[in-house]
Amino acid sequence: MGTRKSQDETPTVYVGMSADLIHHGHINILEEARKLGKVVVGLLTDEAIASYKRVPLLRYEHREIIIRNIVGVEKVIPQKTLDYVENLRKIKPDYVVHGSDWRTGVQKETRARVIETLQEWGGELVEPEYTPGISSTELLSYAVEQGITPGQRLSRLRRLLEVKPMVRVLEVHNGLTGLIAEKTKIKKQGKDLEFDAMWESSLTDSTSKGKPDTAVVDVSSRLQTIEQILEVTTKPLIVDGDSGGLTEHFIFTVRSAERLGVSALIIEDKIGPKRNSLFGTDVAQLQDSIENFAEKITAGKKAQVSDDFMIIARIESLILKQGVKDALRRAKAYIEAGADGIMIHSKEKTPDEIFDFCKQYQKFKTKVPLVVVPSTYSQVTEDELQNAGIQMVIYANQMLRSAYPAMVKTAETILKNGRAKEADKYCLSIKDILTLIPYGDAE
Ligand code: SPV
Ligand code: MG
Repeated sequence: MGTRKSQDETPTVYVGMSADLIHHGHINILEEARKLGKVVVGLLTDEAIASYKRVPLLRYEHREIIIRNIVGVEKVIPQKTLDYVENLRKIKPDYVVHGSDWRTGVQKETRARVIETLQEWGGELVEPEYTPGISSTELLSYAVEQGITPGQRLSRLRRLLEVKPMVRVLEVHNGLTGLIAEKTKIKKQGKDLEFDAMWESSLTDSTSKGKPDTAVVDVSSRLQTIEQILEVTTKPLIVDGDSGGLTEHFIFTVRSAERLGVSALIIEDKIGPKRNSLFGTDVAQLQDSIENFAEKITAGKKAQVSDDFMIIARIESLILKQGVKDALRRAKAYIEAGADGIMIHSKEKTPDEIFDFCKQYQKFKTKVPLVVVPSTYSQVTEDELQNAGIQMVIYANQMLRSAYPAMVKTAETILKNGRAKEADKYCLSIKDILTLIPYGDAE
């Protein structure tokens, strides 16, 4: 139990904020708080904000400088969770000030816990009326609609990996699927959920062009598709670079991808005619030597211009039945060669071998983020992967795999009925397809 401060002491007022885009609504709150006493701002850390909405545009350090310099703010301390309790118990404020908007929505429970905790020492919650007509979320979505430069987009993947315990990536193979990855959002337990980044898959890029996944769709064609995706999205893009080809060609691919604003290339340690990994040992596939592949990684890292571009090494030892030990040996060598991440791939029906790998990997002195593609072991949950120490999950082909049967069904229905009416129920309405993509001009 805390004790309330003596009468003559200036009261302490606690204000929790994200303050990513400061507007007059924030200033109103701080002004109200200042009237009550000396203001301590609990500034949500990047991790705390990312746990329930987007990664903030500005880093904690930068947001801290802004808030610290606002008149009347005595002190800024980090608030590491959406929940206030830890900080409140630490400083036992006489007042907490928050806009009235948090009575509903994701912060409702946080508010209830604030009230309960303040009761421990007789503190009080003050809720000025929410400033109408302004919202950080709206300002942010406006900023996103304005687009993004290649450099800003490129660096976002590293930022996500710094801040989010699990980065969620969705397959895309054209502008439309890019828009789906960009815009699909749901609310789950009051939190906003969306994909963090996109995966430009060699399998689905080739398949959507009616070609096999054998690198017959060449780098130039892949780059065109990548441009289409980048043109209509703002989220970071990770490109499936197959084996990267010859080292002397790979360095050009790195440069081209980086120039467009791609955040990462993932290359796999295979050689010879390109075959999709999910064939496993059913087709002849050869693994590169550790030395060659390590050299390719190092050459790629030297070729990139910015510090933020990532080259992620994809290990095929489990696909090719070479065992976890071989995979670990390779992981070590590839990290030494400069890999910014390790993708460990498997085509087993369970994640067991992936988890075996992860357990040993955790003992490494030098670690980089671990990436997985749970296509054949799709029952695994993000929580299970995160507990195993994995930081990025790629849903590598589900957009195209779901579109195909839907389209075939519609085609068959039209044939069967000699008209399109019966297929209407499987289709987007004419009105919706016309308005799905805004024209961008004044109406
Ligand atoms: C892809 O999506 O093209 C991949 C992942 O490389 S996999 O198909 O599992 O090999
Ligand atoms: Mg591929």
